[in-house]
Amino acid sequence: MLVTGKELLLDAQKNNYAVGAFNINNMEVVQAIIQAAEETNSPVILQASQGGLKYAGVEYIAALGKLAGKNAKVPVALHLDHGTDFEQVMQCIRHGFTSVMIDASRFPLEENIQYTKKVVEIAHSVGVTVEAELGKIGGTEDHITVSEKDATFTDPKEAKIFAEETGVDYLAIAVGTAHGVYKGEPKLDYDRIEEIRNTIDIPLVLHGSSGVPSESLQKAISLGICKINIDTDIRAAFAKTVKEYVAENPDQIDPRKILGPATVAMKEVIKEKMNIFGSAGKA
Ligand code: G3H
Ligand code: 13P
Ligand code: ZN
Ligand code: NA
Repeated sequence: MLVTGKELLLDAQKNNYAVGAFNINNMEVVQAIIQAAEETNSPVILQASQGGLKYAGVEYIAALGKLAGKNAKVPVALHLDHGTDFEQVMQCIRHGFTSVMIDASRFPLEENIQYTKKVVEIAHSVGVTVEAELGKIGGTEDHITVSEKDATFTDPKEAKIFAEETGVDYLAIAVGTAHGVYKGEPKLDYDRIEEIRNTIDIPLVLHGSSGVPSESLQKAISLGICKINIDTDIRAAFAKTVKEYVAENPDQIDPRKILGPATVAMKEVIKEKMNIFGSAGKA
């Protein structure tokens, strides 16, 4: 069934686990995520990034996500990842997304608050729940690159003001993770997660979670992270499997034969994440 992000994340917060939010770009990845969720009995979030919306188009993404959610034996939320502006958020809501992120983290605090507040008011009026970002998460998503130098960790005091003034449902915080592949091992600022958790009581979101060791993710969950975004690790499994298959079967031209093993590989990676996050068995 299709549900809001808030419904999933409040349960995660109450029961000390995290819901995986996995990026969707095509049918195969949607199928891999839903199969993984059903096989582990996990609630799950399907999320569409800027790149994903550009690649598939909002109509395809929405249709795939809604169908997957409607037919799934587990609760599913369909979420906009890093929504850039008011119009895009409205477009996704109109197409049936149950959760949206407005990412105005590039603006100074007061502007981020005003932007987020406006989205929250409209989204809530139609029963859609909202994620926002405070602080700047490093790495690259689509065309936006935040260098290590420009990534700024979330200030707990600002988080309090932000949560109170915007009424946002869940908050993405910058605590040392980055989008994409890590060069070294990421260092998470656990004290900061805990301090933010002690300051505000809405579910916290960790972006850039591919490549983060499972023990670090579990520690972050124990300190209050309730939604964990994963994209890169799924891409890596997809690409590796397709390359291997094509190398071993150079004459194969059937896309279904080439993509089938990649779907299974993505599913296995996702199931592993669901076990690490503790969402397995929680649907
Ligand atoms: O925001 C995180 C995604 O991994 C970015 O992906 O290249 O599809 O926009 P994208
Ligand atoms: P990774 O690609 O590092 O998993 O980050 C995904 C993400 O944060 C999507 O919003
Ligand atoms: Zn992200
Ligand atoms: Na990452």
